[in-house]
Amino acid sequence: MIIGFGNDHAAVALKKAMMEHVASLGHECIDYGAQDGEKMDYPVPGKAVAEAVLRGEIDKGILICGTGIGISIAANKVPGIRAAACSEPFSARLCVEHNNCQIVAFGARVIGEGTARDIVDAFLSAEFEGGRHAARVELIGAIDAAYCRTEE
Ligand code: RB5
Repeated sequence: MIIGFGNDHAAVALKKAMMEHVASLGHECIDYGAQDGEKMDYPVPGKAVAEAVLRGEIDKGILICGTGIGISIAANKVPGIRAAACSEPFSARLCVEHNNCQIVAFGARVIGEGTARDIVDAFLSAEFEGGRHAARVELIGAIDAAYCRTEE
């Protein structure tokens, strides 16, 4: 898969560690986030990774800020995107199996590298189960559609 990474200035080191890990699993990595010494507010990489998903440039996205909260909120503002802030691997698996999330987010000030690796592994190996979950995800899409109508 092609995996996109986004991070603010609070999460450069954890982003680098996760990119190395994901590359070691054989995936291609694209970096949309802040680099060493660069200040980047979390909405910027959150939006960039969300848009890359919608363009089909990446298969899945991994977002990291201080808490994982701001960057996931930003990504979720992009219609069609489902991003989940997770602090443990169970939720990271279920956010794909049940919610068909394209993006997982977590916080560099919240979890350590080992838990982050477990979250990434759970997220990347999970598949959407469809079935009863599909109708619920469609209802989320209906909310997007209702609020993104443009007036003529
Ligand atoms: C940046 O200091 C911090 O606010 C940000 O990384 C994040 O935690 C916001 O949700």
